[in-house]
Amino acid sequence: METKLLKPNEESIRLACKLLKQGEVVGVPTETVYGLAGDATKPEAIKKIYQAKGRPADNPLIVHISNTNMLDGIVKFVPEDAKILMQNFWPGPLTIIMPKGDRVCDATCAGLDSVGVRMPSNKIAHEIIEKSGIAFAAPSANTSGKPSPTNAGDVFADMNGKIPLIIDGGDSDAGVESTVVSVLQNTPIILRPGVITKEMMESVLNKPVQIARAITEEVKSDEKVLSPGMKYKHYAPNAEVVILKGTIDKFAKYVNKHSDDDTFALVFDGEEKFLNVKAITFGHHENANEQAHKLFSALRELDKLHAKKVYARCPDTTGVALAVYNRLIRSAGFKIIEL
Ligand code: TXA
Ligand code: MG
Repeated sequence: METKLLKPNEESIRLACKLLKQGEVVGVPTETVYGLAGDATKPEAIKKIYQAKGRPADNPLIVHISNTNMLDGIVKFVPEDAKILMQNFWPGPLTIIMPKGDRVCDATCAGLDSVGVRMPSNKIAHEIIEKSGIAFAAPSANTSGKPSPTNAGDVFADMNGKIPLIIDGGDSDAGVESTVVSVLQNTPIILRPGVITKEMMESVLNKPVQIARAITEEVKSDEKVLSPGMKYKHYAPNAEVVILKGTIDKFAKYVNKHSDDDTFALVFDGEEKFLNVKAITFGHHENANEQAHKLFSALRELDKLHAKKVYARCPDTTGVALAVYNRLIRSAGFKIIEL
């Protein structure tokens, strides 16, 4: 199959809508990362998404809408906490897990009786949903296990020959996927951290929000988890990534001693000067939004440079930095050395 890579304009948006209506899969930009969009109500479209990604069939997809009227049939009902979160954070990078509605096909939710829904703020994604009238399911547009794509070129690298169209909307704003929060219980629980933080949600809900243990700790493959995505290997470049936890002084000492020609360091901006090895940076230490924006493209850059071993700096675990930490420990397969 030929994969077209087109800039967004009337014609390409029309083509995207037409393909979605035909049950095809399209690569679309969102404000978080690029997604692989397919009609959430059509099993044949959802099957194509899982195939293109090589995604395990038990890992559910997120449904994207452009206005709250579309929730009818997508969810069974809207819980009170969800109403407050929607008012405050939609459109934007927040996915809310709610009871599943009848119109969403079972394959979209991997057989669960809940569904994750979000309203993207990205103008192109919004326009495609609005003009097609289709609530699309969209996982990140990477091959399963690889870092999520934050630009159209990275989608093309993974999906060339597998999908008919990618719309090039430039660099993704956030750079990490949406925060996933479940409101199925009394206390909302974050299943995946993102740029909408626990503190931001607590301040509008006026109650505590929990953070799932699996966000920072490894789960066994047979362990029951709240979100199936938690148990899979994720975001991994070809290189072996190891996180070194400690000051930049200790980090530099360790890396300078333990490296050869194929070793790289993944460090915060400005830290390259302390190192004798090749380094890729992913934003300033104090700026978690910048780290989120750059992390996945930095991981993909390491592949392009044929890195074999990567020593990475350890992000913080508060606020937006928790989202960065969560992605990086998964790309490292939970290998952390305390210095
Ligand atoms: O920012 C995003 O959310 C991007 C863009 C394209 O919108 N999409 C995305 O989708 O990250 P994906 O498929 O890569 O990640 C979806 C995550 C998975 O970890 C999945 O397990 C979880 O959301 N999820 C989806 N539906 C769920 C449900 N009903 N219950 C629990 N977890 C769910
Ligand atoms: Mg993904």
